[in-house]
Amino acid sequence: MSTSQSAGQKTSARQPKQPIYSPEARVQIEHLISQTEPSEEELHPGSDVTRGLSQQPKTLPPRYFYDDRGSQLFEKICDLPEYYLTRTETEILQTCASEIADITGTCEIVELGSGSSTKTRLLLDAYQQAGHALCYRPIDISAGILESSAHSLLLDYPTLHIHGLVGTYELALQRLATSHLPTRMICFIGSTLGNLNPQECDEFLDQIKNALQPGEYFLLGIDLQKSKAQLEAAYNDSQGITAEFNLNMLRHLNQRFEGTFDLTRFEHFAFYNESDHQIEMHLQSLDAQTVQLKALGLTVELSQGESILSEISRKFSLTTLQQDLEKKGLKSRQVWTDANQWFGLILCQLPLI
Ligand code: AVI
Repeated sequence: MSTSQSAGQKTSARQPKQPIYSPEARVQIEHLISQTEPSEEELHPGSDVTRGLSQQPKTLPPRYFYDDRGSQLFEKICDLPEYYLTRTETEILQTCASEIADITGTCEIVELGSGSSTKTRLLLDAYQQAGHALCYRPIDISAGILESSAHSLLLDYPTLHIHGLVGTYELALQRLATSHLPTRMICFIGSTLGNLNPQECDEFLDQIKNALQPGEYFLLGIDLQKSKAQLEAAYNDSQGITAEFNLNMLRHLNQRFEGTFDLTRFEHFAFYNESDHQIEMHLQSLDAQTVQLKALGLTVELSQGESILSEISRKFSLTTLQQDLEKKGLKSRQVWTDANQWFGLILCQLPLI
């Protein structure tokens, strides 16, 4: 499916041949720290955990999924037969990356939550094939993964220049320098938008809009609404990897905050909330128990069957999301989806004034 293309900026001229520099000369990695006020997290580490576990119903911030083991488990999830998201988005990118490169022309590719940058390679291949200069700005909270993926990209793309930013999306979006290339495209793929609640999503889209200059692009990958059975299978896989991923958050909290969570006394529980169009992932207490997080000075009482919400994963309607983006001033240039309409990619542009 593709929507109409309104008039916009297009740079189709081929670039002159790029000089080849050594990988070390083509990479720069900057660690962002707040230059104004230290964040709440810097001042009081774990305050978000205390807040979430002190409220009713109890919640935990999904960012604690991603310690080293959690990141490895997430990579495994992406390969699961039931977890169609990564595979489907990759399929779409395989077919539309060259169209994206044609629409934007030469541009700096900025990626939020770049991780291992696997899918980004499809974009880099397309820009390379179209003869565009390759300039990539990965942004990730984990310095380790950013450095290792930058290293392998530099070896595989001899003309690629990387300027990575280690930090939160919020800080990185505030600090995005203008590019020396004709335009920029901020990519937020993988349906990570779905892990934000509606208010966080609204604030995030404001930050995107403020980071873009007129004429610049935003590429968004999102999981679409579908049957309850298919969605619940994707978050309750038969190998139990998603359950392990969910429970690993408790292990991570134990390590980080001297916690006493006993993983054998919790169960993974995920279901599709059809009215809110979201998967809700919970950690359910198997019995009445008391847990301590000594480094936070926190004691948590859980009753039998009580659950802690660890993640939401919202599923979108393309039309509604396009309208929301439009309200933010982000004009849809083109939309791509797979044959089953399971996943969508939207390329938006901040109109030229
Ligand atoms: C990272 N995010 C888009 C995944 C999702 O599907 O919401 C996280 C995940 N949680 C369980 N499985 C995958």
